[in-house]
Amino acid sequence: MQTELSMPASIRGNTSAYMDWVQMLTGAALIVFMWCHMLLVASVNLGTGVFDALAAFLEYTYMAQIGGPMIGVVFLVHFALAIRKIPVTSVQQKGMWNQARMLRHKDTWLWVVQAVTAMIILVMAGVHLWAILTNLPITTAKSAQRIQEGGWFWFYLVLLPMAELHVGIGFYRIGVKWGFVGRRGRKRFQMLEYAITGAFLAIGLVTLFTFATVSL
Ligand code: HEM
Repeated sequence: MQTELSMPASIRGNTSAYMDWVQMLTGAALIVFMWCHMLLVASVNLGTGVFDALAAFLEYTYMAQIGGPMIGVVFLVHFALAIRKIPVTSVQQKGMWNQARMLRHKDTWLWVVQAVTAMIILVMAGVHLWAILTNLPITTAKSAQRIQEGGWFWFYLVLLPMAELHVGIGFYRIGVKWGFVGRRGRKRFQMLEYAITGAFLAIGLVTLFTFATVSL
């Protein structure tokens, strides 16, 4: 089988462009998933009955059993494509760091934050997915017990900002890189990204507090 590097330059160029597309599309799908996920989990703030009813609906329609592993696969494909551009050796990382310091451009720093959060999310979201999907059905009682007695409160306190930063910056970068947002609209788009990230962080913290205090 031909590796990408042993292919003629024209084919290599196409392959790389397709990979960029799939990386963007899987990233966009994960952004939409995360927004829905945060709102679904936040339904516990409206009452434990609301959360349990939504979780039961996802179970009944097999969205949890089938959709859950599918998200895991999209997550892995996204990672496998994104790692092509993330500096992994210490020499590459040092080069990236020096370039970012030299360029002094906000978007370059945003990219550095995205690369660092990606590594943390890869491990933590993998653990989270396993913990949830091997312990179905999802119920308020189980989630609250995990958070109150299983030490998951601190785990989510780290994963939440990592995921929201990654999703927020990803949203901004898709808009800018793929030309959905022009140079003139960039500042306003950045403000929108800050607002969305801030709102989801706040919702996540309130939800975490609710799980931590709901009676078992
Ligand atoms: C199908 C996939 C997923 C399911 C079914 C799921 C389900 C859940 C559930 C039930 C909770 C409540 C807490 C608990 O029960 O332990 C939760 C919380 C959380 N999940 Fe997921 N999750 C999924 C994927 C992800 C992914 C991919 C990420 C991050 C990249 C993520 C990040 C979080 C965070 C940060 C919290 C804490 C929420 C908060 O502070 O309000 N989840 N998830």
